[in-house]
Amino acid sequence: MVGKIIVTGGAGFIGSAVVRHLINNMDFEVANLDKLTYAGNLDSLASVSDSPRYRFYQVDICDAPALDAVLAEFKPTAVMHLAAESHVDRSIDGPADFIQTNIVGTYTLLESVRRYWNGLAEESKAAFRFHHISTDEVYGDLEGTEDLFTETTSYAPSSPYSASKASSDHLVRAWQRTYGLPVLVTNCSNNYGPYHFPEKLIPHVILNALAGKPLPVYGDGSQIRDWLYVEDHARALCEVVSRGVVGETYNIGGHNEKRNLQVVETICDLLDELVPGADDRDERTGRPHRSYRELITFVKDRPGHDRRYAIDASKIERELGWKPEETFETGLRKTVQWYLDNRNWWQRVLSGDYRLGRLGEQA
Ligand SMILES: NC(=O)c1ccc[n+]([C@@H]2O[C@H](COP(=O)([O-])OP(=O)(O)OC[C@H]3O[C@@H](n4cnc5c(N)ncnc54)[C@H](O)[C@@H]3O)[C@@H](O)[C@H]2O)c1
Repeated sequence: MVGKIIVTGGAGFIGSAVVRHLINNMDFEVANLDKLTYAGNLDSLASVSDSPRYRFYQVDICDAPALDAVLAEFKPTAVMHLAAESHVDRSIDGPADFIQTNIVGTYTLLESVRRYWNGLAEESKAAFRFHHISTDEVYGDLEGTEDLFTETTSYAPSSPYSASKASSDHLVRAWQRTYGLPVLVTNCSNNYGPYHFPEKLIPHVILNALAGKPLPVYGDGSQIRDWLYVEDHARALCEVVSRGVVGETYNIGGHNEKRNLQVVETICDLLDELVPGADDRDERTGRPHRSYRELITFVKDRPGHDRRYAIDASKIERELGWKPEETFETGLRKTVQWYLDNRNWWQRVLSGDYRLGRLGEQA
């Protein structure tokens, strides 16, 4: 039987990496179900959108009749649920969309999927999977420098974003306990890599540096995050949906704990190497006078800012044999190079043209 997967949020940063992986490296048929908010970008799927195994439905996960129609037409064997509002700063400025999509949307999707799943034959019902993709931010802050989030760490979310994701995790687990829906949950650390929307730290720093603009760092930049290259995450998710044990949670992380300031400085050093300020060189050495590090600017810290996140990803490695292929150094180098090589992608994001139509279809 050919696997048929609905990926919600497939036009987003991680969702598009999952869709590309399912089409390019696996045999799945994929339906990308996405509302196309500001974070949805079909340009990120240009390399797979002509595949006969790919189709796109512009649907809001809060719209039950539209979800029912897609499920009835596409007949998935699994749903990978990534659609969400995902930017912490936006959740602080306006939490309503986060409550609506992340909580009400996940509830609406669960109910729609449950109606569809109830109508399946017994064998298909048993084989079906609902995979909910979540974040390590649901665990809140880590006090000690050695502590790690495990799958049994208590939830203690700090921001409207992480609280809404925590709620959705609880709903998904309740739908298994109460209705028997075969669910899987993954909680992952901070992702970075190609096709990342420029409001997030790493692309924001790369693009500001290239434009000679200040590189904002919250507080003193000592917040610690565990970074994972997005394609490693996409591979992990495909392992979990294919081979994960129903009802289990898997933490996914990169074993790459870095202070935010360290991340920004490393990007500056890579840019100093790859695109040194061409008109600003030392005549004797040929090296640039200035380092991009000079653009670093400390700004007032975000309220409720967690100090440290760090993931224990030993369960997924032990049980499913997954581990990251990229270190932070190799992954960040690839990412910086990708932004240098794909200016058209991010220039269309910055200009807003990405919302008008497919890359190459513009006048
Ligand atoms: N980015 C990270 O570092 C990270 C880490 C761990 C977990 N996650 C989780 O992974 C998932 C994907 O994150 P991302 O960074 O790719 O997010 P993103 O913001 O880049 O993409 C979200 C996608 O969901 C779509 N969407 C939003 N609201 C929708 C709705 N109501 N109906 C249908 N589609 C809707 C958007 O159009 C967009 O394509 C999220 O659930 C997030 O919580 C993200």
